[in-house]
Amino acid sequence: MAEIRDGFQSRLGFVLAAAGAAVGLGNIWGFPTQAANHGGGAFLLVYFLVIFLLALPALYTELYLGHSAQANPVKALQNACKERSKNMGAAAGYIGLSGAIVMLSFYSIVAGWMLAYSLDPIARFFELNELSKFLNSDSMLKNFIFTPFMLLLSASIILKGVKSGIEIWSRRLMPLLLILLIALTAYIATLEGAAEGFNAYLNPDFNQVLNPDLILAAMGQAFFSLSLGVGCMMIYGSYLKPDANLPKLTLSVAMLDTGVAFLAGLLIIPAIYVAQSHGVEVFQNGKLIGEGQLIFAVLPELFNSMGQIGLFIGFIFFVLMSIASITSTISSTEIPVAFLVENKSLSRQKSTWLVTLVIFIASSTIILNFDWLFGLVIKLFTQYQLPLMGLFYFITVGWLWRKGNKLLSVSKGLHYWFAQYIRYICPVLMTAVFANVAFK
Ligand code: ALA
Repeated sequence: MAEIRDGFQSRLGFVLAAAGAAVGLGNIWGFPTQAANHGGGAFLLVYFLVIFLLALPALYTELYLGHSAQANPVKALQNACKERSKNMGAAAGYIGLSGAIVMLSFYSIVAGWMLAYSLDPIARFFELNELSKFLNSDSMLKNFIFTPFMLLLSASIILKGVKSGIEIWSRRLMPLLLILLIALTAYIATLEGAAEGFNAYLNPDFNQVLNPDLILAAMGQAFFSLSLGVGCMMIYGSYLKPDANLPKLTLSVAMLDTGVAFLAGLLIIPAIYVAQSHGVEVFQNGKLIGEGQLIFAVLPELFNSMGQIGLFIGFIFFVLMSIASITSTISSTEIPVAFLVENKSLSRQKSTWLVTLVIFIASSTIILNFDWLFGLVIKLFTQYQLPLMGLFYFITVGWLWRKGNKLLSVSKGLHYWFAQYIRYICPVLMTAVFANVAFK
């Protein structure tokens, strides 16, 4: 008898797991930082447009590919691209899978910092000053302790499988994340300086809206935030039951992710202005001082200036960031693990450890070459690889996949128009964004 494939047990379980994959450092760190550096409300406006016009259809396309194949991305894309383009499909699957490893290689470093920063208030509460200094340092040793720790935490969930690992932990962590985020946002809103932050965040500077760099940054951010382009949503889609209502689920996940990014902006941007009113230097020449500095310098300085309550707020904030990181790392780790289990017949246990080791080697390469490699990998990955893979998914579903593609067989109604939109408009729009940047 064929073995039953592991999968999500409930709709809510799927939505929380997929939203967990989507909601991460990209929402709580990346989005507000990009917004602060690209004209606040202008970025917000373009981001919403990109989400609605491109990322939402891409999310649907990716979930649909996985759901139809009930298999990992390499198999799913290979099956979708019949005959002549079969190898191209498999190659795209491998590119996505390697992308997941690349993403995890830098993501787990930052996730490790979050964990270290969440321990810092505890160290300071007990006046362990040396430990606190170490937790706040940029040391390589800190990276070599906390990065593998995050990887092991993620592996321990993946080892348990989809239903008993990913789904259960997403059900526990996601509600906690939402509660913490709402509570923190409400608290920061009461502080002096917050109103100026709301103003900067919510009032668009229309002069910036057509800036090609802003549009490319918004597109990269939207694809990264929804975890598109590496096969993450494809593998989660493949774990859905055959009768799942994909359009509804797509909408729920995209709304949760975008809602959290918006809320994170309501927390972080006012917090920057609160920090400023506490005397912390936050802007230089109109830009935030060093993008990475926001979370790791400005906010801790703000928390420090708040006395005892600051210790507590800092602790909650970095716990929130750690939770957001872990629900995202598990989703990307699942992609290569599922591939090894399904295509190479390795056990889940062996696959998990093998993938964890490969990610650790990749992270170590970045840690050892941090100054030039870290930012470069993030930029190439988010602004180019992810949207280009999204473009490939549109082309696959719209053009290459002939047999058994239910989306293209619909001949009327909303579904028909949506299929035409994916086929014609999405590839053209995405190409236009890239061309716009290349010829600016
Ligand atoms: N989608 C994840 C994030 O936004 C990777 O951080």
